[in-house]
Amino acid sequence: MQRVFSGIQPSGIPHLGNYLGAIRNWVTLQQDHECIFCLVDMHAITVWQDPAELRENTLRQAAILLAAGINPEQHVLFNQSAVTAHARLAWIFNCVSRLGWLNRMTQFKDKAGKNRENHSAGLYVYPNLMAADILTYKATRVPVGDDQRQHIELANDIAQKFNNDYGVEFFPQIEAIIPPAAARVMSLRDGTKKMSKSDPSAQSRIEMTDDADTISQKIRRAKTDSEPLPSETEGLTERPEARNLVGLYAAISNITAQEVLNEYNGSGFGAFKDALAERLSVTISPIADETRRLLDNQDHLLNVLRKGAERASAIAEPIVSEAEKLVGFLK
Ligand code: AMP
Ligand code: TRP
Repeated sequence: MQRVFSGIQPSGIPHLGNYLGAIRNWVTLQQDHECIFCLVDMHAITVWQDPAELRENTLRQAAILLAAGINPEQHVLFNQSAVTAHARLAWIFNCVSRLGWLNRMTQFKDKAGKNRENHSAGLYVYPNLMAADILTYKATRVPVGDDQRQHIELANDIAQKFNNDYGVEFFPQIEAIIPPAAARVMSLRDGTKKMSKSDPSAQSRIEMTDDADTISQKIRRAKTDSEPLPSETEGLTERPEARNLVGLYAAISNITAQEVLNEYNGSGFGAFKDALAERLSVTISPIADETRRLLDNQDHLLNVLRKGAERASAIAEPIVSEAEKLVGFLK
């Protein structure tokens, strides 16, 4: 059975992009893979996190994943900082990876913007830690949204350079699993920007804890244009907001964008948005309710994460110890 690894930052409330681009696929992969899912708190602190909020967000994130259908008995769910093997392998990878490779990472450029000098060194080496997350377990399949494609390619470059440098076939190549639909969910306020936890406007995203009224209000206020919906998907090319909403409708209903247009072509956004909000609520509201229930028992959540970390450590320890031996560290 192939091993899956994926991570999500506990840096805010996960949103519809996280759900459709990643979490939903994690749930499905559990059927025929050995899965390790990680709340990447070490990645989160590459930008400032208030400590109390980080703790709260990590617990909430765990609750949402369980509510969405992650099974912590058969698979592994834990927070990254609880397994020290990640940091040890990340340091080795900091020394394998090249500055030239990191300089090409578009996510760093997007996050750092013009003010590059004033960002943390952690943000810069973030992709090396991500490579370490995956390879600490020699995982071969990594379900992520489209924005992580470049980081997975970098992880493969690091794995290959490690193998070459030390003359071994130690780390495997990794395959990104990117969903065919909704791999890049866009902001509800601007169809050219991806939906993001860090967008200052909560109106730009549907959060996985939103109730039906909030979802409906956010979708009704979502930016659109004044044209009716087209009959063919080509008609959406120059209409990023319309394309995003049609893509959401298709993804949440498990149909194609063309099938959505077959039903709604020629109609305005009013009825379409009501139907979209309804479909989103049917999926999200039960997850939001279950999340609230799980958050009432924090001891249970802490216990799940603690057990997950123990199981993760048991897999990671021999692999990372072996990598350290290959490097020449006395053991
Ligand atoms: P993050 O919130 O950055 O930790 O992302 C967690 C997972 O959600 C990763 O697999 C991302 O690729 C995915 N993801 C984040 N934002 C979006 C988005 N707007 N659309 C689709 N997938 C996303
Ligand atoms: N960088 C990913 C993101 O922001 C989160 C992440 C960290 C991750 N480590 C990972 C995803 C390992 C997949 C595998 O979306």
